[in-house]
Formats: sequence, structure tokens, C-alpha cells
Amino acid sequence: MNYELAYKVGFHPWEDAIEDPEFVETITDLFEREERGRDPPYGRALDVGTGSGIWGIELAKRGWQVTGIDTVERVLRRARNRVEDADVEMELVLGDVTELETAGIDDEYQLVLDTGTFHGLNRAQREAMAREVDAVAGPDATVLLLVWDPKRRGPLPRGATRDEIEAAFPGWTVTDMGPSQFTAPKPVELLLTPNEHWYRLRRE
Ligand SMILES: C[S@@+](CC[C@H](N)C(=O)[O-])C[C@H]1O[C@@H](n2cnc3c(N)ncnc32)[C@H](O)[C@@H]1O
Repeated sequence: MNYELAYKVGFHPWEDAIEDPEFVETITDLFEREERGRDPPYGRALDVGTGSGIWGIELAKRGWQVTGIDTVERVLRRARNRVEDADVEMELVLGDVTELETAGIDDEYQLVLDTGTFHGLNRAQREAMAREVDAVAGPDATVLLLVWDPKRRGPLPRGATRDEIEAAFPGWTVTDMGPSQFTAPKPVELLLTPNEHWYRLRRE
């Protein structure tokens, strides 16, 4: 999918998720699970394919030290504005999730969040992303992925199965998964049938 063009023409329906109470409840539960039994600050979180930073900002508000990375400068400008409006600290980096080290991402992260990037990458890119994430994830880290069910959707994300996710992330296992509860607009649901799920991965 050409995100550069999508953002240029103002096409970013994934940002509507913040207005979807069921989705917000789902993702909040996922965040709470990683925080349970601890007090903030919770540690470093990496929001890969952060877009306009919506979910990274939510993590920052909760007490995570967040870095967001994206390849599209245009959307990072919007992310910077959002960060400012939210009055939180969040580092924003222009770079590719398949080349985190090159982008200067070399800290140790306790949480890696991906709301919609992995499932649009090709196989080689997925493996590269997983390798790079593995390199920066701490020994007790969690990876959270939001992924559509697999289906040919032209230039749009083709999705992934649980097996494909585990194959891309050797040394990691899916501990849990569930529906994201995101309700896309009706025509999108009918045409694309995203059937989005979240996956929680931990080292084996
Ligand atoms: C579906 S959007 C989700 C954005 C954001 N996570 C959200 O939920 O609002 C996917 C994002 O991944 C970014 N992206 C795609 N491929 C990428 C790559 N290889 N490296 C970094 N970011 C990438 C896109 O620019 C886009 O912002």
C-alpha cells in the first residue's frame, strides 16, 4: 500500500479507531495487561508504523517512554502536532521498521506495538521487521500486533495468519489473540472483510 499517497490525499481510515469505543476498550485492556502489578513509568515502548502517533501517545499518557517510527514524513508532522497537543513526551523517528538499527533505534524496549504495519509488508520485509524487533526487544518484552485476516486486497494489506506471524518471528510465540473489535465503515467491511485480530507475542 502506498502510504505516502494515502496520507497526501487524506486517506487514513485506521485513525477512526480512536472513535470506536469497542476498539478502544480492546486496546486499553491489552495495554493494562502489560502494566499489571507495576506502577509507571512502565519502561520503553516502540510504536512501529506509528502514523499520526495516536496509539503511541496513548501509551505515553499511561506512563510509557515511547518512540514512534514511520517512513512517511508528512504523517510524522501530524504526529508531532498531536504529541504537542497531548502535552506528552514521545520521540518520533523517520525510518523503516525493517531497518530499525539504521534509523538509530537501538534502545531496549519492553513493549513493541504495531497497529497495522506488519500485515501490509511482504514476506522478506516481515522477516526483516521481526529480526530488527527481536534485536531491540528486551528479554521480558511483549510484541502486540494488529493484523487482518489473509485475503487478496489489491494494493491494500493482504493480512496474515497466526502461523505466518510465528514463522516471521522465530523464537517468539503467540500467547493470546482475539478480535480487535474495530468496526470499519460498512462498504469497507463488505469489500475488504478485514476481520482484524490482535496477537500478543512473547519470547518462547
Ligand atoms: C495502517 S497505518 C497505521 C498507523 C498507526 N499505527 C495507527 O494505527 O494509526 C500503517 C502505518 O505504517 C507505516 N509504514 C508502512 N510500512 C512501513 C515501514 N516499512 N516502516 C515504517 N513505517 C511503515 C505507514 O506509513 C503507516 O503510517
